[in-house]
Amino acid sequence: MLAEVIAHIRSGDSKVTKRLGYTKEHIAIGARYQRQKDSWDAHHKHCHQAIEEAIKHCPQTRTCLIIGSGRCLDIPLEKLSNIFNDIILVDIVRQKAITDFNNIKQITSDITELTSKVYNHRNIVEVPVPSLFLDQDDIDLVISDNVLSQLAWPMAIFLEKHGINEDAIYQFCQEVIKAHLTYINNFHCTTCLITDHTKHSFNPRFEHTQSANTLYNISLPFAPVTLKWQWYIEPKGESGRDAYAINDISCLINPA
Ligand SMILES: C[S@@+](CC[C@H](N)C(=O)[O-])C[C@H]1O[C@@H](n2cnc3c(N)ncnc32)[C@H](O)[C@@H]1O
Repeated sequence: MLAEVIAHIRSGDSKVTKRLGYTKEHIAIGARYQRQKDSWDAHHKHCHQAIEEAIKHCPQTRTCLIIGSGRCLDIPLEKLSNIFNDIILVDIVRQKAITDFNNIKQITSDITELTSKVYNHRNIVEVPVPSLFLDQDDIDLVISDNVLSQLAWPMAIFLEKHGINEDAIYQFCQEVIKAHLTYINNFHCTTCLITDHTKHSFNPRFEHTQSANTLYNISLPFAPVTLKWQWYIEPKGESGRDAYAINDISCLINPA
């Protein structure tokens, strides 16, 4: 716990990123990964295979943009670095510098283009379709990397604390998810969207207790290449009330 507090102080993240809880979540995910390494590694392996499938659909391999790169546990970095001229990793949380490859650029940025506005207004604001990197015409692969379900909920918690109406928050979160899907679709290259969409919870006897949509009931669009798997995200002992949780994951690849 003390280590997590120190990591939070030393993160180098902006006030907005810290206050909206992204830094805390990033540190918590790291700690959870250490506890659940075996079951999470299977999910990471699926992500690597899905990204390798997406690479096959890239006619050119100049720049690869990865959104929500985090600790890069779910990214076959070495392979991408060998294939693409340049890799751009984007995350809202400042990451440890990657020094093993000389064609990787790390950028700390909020891909929703919303968090500062929400923080400053302490209220719901208009949701734009993001535009970051859309004007960079050498991007041949965009990977939205297990980030879609993570975009809205930290802002939702912040807005709840500031007394904003629950229904309005829910609608806002739906807009955030839809804007990201439109954003990815606006790139004129191969795109690869990896995301969870349903979380199944089980009691200690492994009896199913509930299933919840993790994308605020926004449906994923059709993609010509679709891969699916399950992620044992909360094996026994990890969660409090429910003893186990499994996420359904989809990878949607749209060839250029
Ligand atoms: C579940 S993690 C993805 C796992 C990550 N690829 C890894 O291997 O560690 C989601 C990532 O999305 C990032 N993220 C959440 N909201 C974001 C935003 N608005 N802009 C950019 N990154 C964001 C988080 O900081 C986190 O690192």
